[in-house]
Amino acid sequence: MGAEKDNMSRIPQELLENPEIAALADEAEKRIFGSGDLDELERARIWLLGRKGVVTILLSEVRGLPPEVRPQAGRLRNLLKKTVEGWLELRRSELEKAALHAGLEGEFHDLTLPGRYIPRGREHLVTRTIKEIEDIFVGLGYEIAEGPEVELEYYNFTALNTPEDHPSRSLTDTLYVAGPDGRVGDVLLRCHTSPVQVRVMESRRPPLFVISPGKAYRRDVPDASHSPMFHQVEGFAVDEDITFADLKGTLESFCRIMFGEDRRVRFRPHFFPFTEPSAEVDVSCIICGGEGCRLCKSTGWLEILGCGMIDPNVFGYVGYDPEEFSGFAFGMGVERIAMLKYRIPDIRMLFENDLRFMRQF
Ligand code: PHE
Repeated sequence: MGAEKDNMSRIPQELLENPEIAALADEAEKRIFGSGDLDELERARIWLLGRKGVVTILLSEVRGLPPEVRPQAGRLRNLLKKTVEGWLELRRSELEKAALHAGLEGEFHDLTLPGRYIPRGREHLVTRTIKEIEDIFVGLGYEIAEGPEVELEYYNFTALNTPEDHPSRSLTDTLYVAGPDGRVGDVLLRCHTSPVQVRVMESRRPPLFVISPGKAYRRDVPDASHSPMFHQVEGFAVDEDITFADLKGTLESFCRIMFGEDRRVRFRPHFFPFTEPSAEVDVSCIICGGEGCRLCKSTGWLEILGCGMIDPNVFGYVGYDPEEFSGFAFGMGVERIAMLKYRIPDIRMLFENDLRFMRQF
């Protein structure tokens, strides 16, 4: 930075007259104005004016000179000191200014540039569907309860009146959890959300109007309508004088809110160990409208839930008197409902998490 340019002009004439001092001044000027940063400048200052600096030493030597040359030598050396001090000061302010400019340039913000794109997350369709179902039942006065996904055989089967030899208990249908010894016992991944009924009833007394959303697991091979992990929303009501008409009315109004007034709904007699009588509820297929397609397996109907009147034997397990209370229960598949509402032809699309798919909802 202009160190060379006016090299000689900086050195006072008087110093140039003494060759030794002139050489030192020349070297000092080169080092000071040649320093590229404040650290380098500080090293030059120490070399000149430090405790053992060349100028410091020159000054301390004045006292030992013969008296006749002492004043002249003292003046010259003091001038040298004042000169390099001035240069150091000048160079320091030059370097500081340069550093400040560099900093400001580095910090320059172009406010006209477009902002950085921050991708927006969104709710998964399954979560959204669970919330929609919850909203409908909360509107009907139900409360929400949850239960464990890793469950005891007792809550998943036994207290739900499932016989010891029922096929759903088998290792081919249900996923059991191995214990520390590597053997399966009475711990499993719940195959439905119904165990939450037992857990809630066991710890409370009617009236109960409860729904319970959550994951369920089955040893199923994935296809367009099966997934080994899926979601259900369980619901049940227990009070004095609850009838099958209450069950029908509740589920019909749920279906109308969920799928629209014109959706056809049918109750088909069915069997569940924990309800008697039992039924399955179907909704007319939303892909084909009833004609028959891959999703509805050519039936025109889609099964969305199972339901029934809670079996008196279940009340026995939770200590309720079946003469005093009656109740209904239902369990629905969340993915199936999402597929109906949002016209998704394959359940696996809900779990592949392909953003191109997810962003459509
Ligand atoms: N748990 C049953 C299933 O997973 C559904 C159901 C729940 C049926 C409650 C009746 C009552 O298929």
